Amino acid sequence: MLIAVTRPVSQSLAHCELTHLSRESIDVALAAAQHAAYERLLSSLGAALVRVPAAHELPDAVFIEDTAVVLDEVAVLARPGAPSRRGESAAVAQALAKYRPVLCMKPPATLDGGDVLRLGRCLYVGRSSRTDQQGIEQLESLVAPFDYRVVPVEFTGCLHLKSAVTAVANGLLLLNPDWISAAAFPTCEAIAIDDREPHGANALEIAGVVIHPSQFPRTRDRLVQCGLRVASVDCSELAKAEGAVTCCSLTFETSSAATQTVRTDA
Ligand code: GLY
Repeated sequence: MLIAVTRPVSQSLAHCELTHLSRESIDVALAAAQHAAYERLLSSLGAALVRVPAAHELPDAVFIEDTAVVLDEVAVLARPGAPSRRGESAAVAQALAKYRPVLCMKPPATLDGGDVLRLGRCLYVGRSSRTDQQGIEQLESLVAPFDYRVVPVEFTGCLHLKSAVTAVANGLLLLNPDWISAAAFPTCEAIAIDDREPHGANALEIAGVVIHPSQFPRTRDRLVQCGLRVASVDCSELAKAEGAVTCCSLTFETSSAATQTVRTDA
C-alpha cells in the first residue's frame, strides 16, 4: 500500500523560514485549502493518508519532507538545517515508526530531506545552506548497510536540491538547468523547465502521475508532450513560503519490515 504522510498548514505559516524569496503576505486559510486539495489528489491516486498532528507553533511544519528520508528498509530522521525547524521531527518519527525502523541523525550534522533525491539505490544529496558535509557523511554511513550509495551534488539559486530537480519517471528528470547541471545525473534523461518558470522543476511522481504546480503551465506542457500524465495543483500560497509539491508529503510503500522501533544509537 502507498502511504503519504502529511502535516497540516500551521497558523503561523506567515513566519516561515525564507532563504531565496522575499516575504509576501500569505493567506493561511487559502494555503490550508490548497493543501487539502493536494491531500485529496494523493488519496485519489491511491495513497493512504497518515496525518501527523498540526504544530501551529512551528511555521514550516507542513513541509514534512524535510524532516526525514524514507527508504524501503528504513527511515532516517533528518536534523533540519534551520534551527526553527528542529522541533518538527519528533512527531514525524512517531508516525514513521509504524512503518519503518527509524534511525536518527545526530548533531551537529544537518540535512533537509528536500536535498535528497532518490534514484534507485542512489541518493543524490544537494550541498546547501541546510545540508552540510557532516549531514551528507552521516546519511551515507546510516544507509550504506542497506546498500544505498550517496552522491553529493552542487546546485545554486534555490533552497533545496529538489527545487532544482526531481524525478518524473524512471530515468527521467525535470530540472532547471540554470540551477543544476544535467551532467550530475549521467544515467538519466532530462526535461528542462520553461525558462520563464524557474520554480517549475519540483514535481512529485505518484502511481504514474506527475503532480505539478499549476503556476507553471508551460513546463506542464513540456511534461505532457513527453507523454507523461500530469495532475496540476495550485500551491501558490505554499510557494510564497518556499514550498512546493514534494515537500508537503513523505510517500512510500508499506513494508513487511515495518516495526514500532525508534533507534537513536545508530
Ligand atoms: N519555508 C521553507 C523552509 O525554508 O524550510
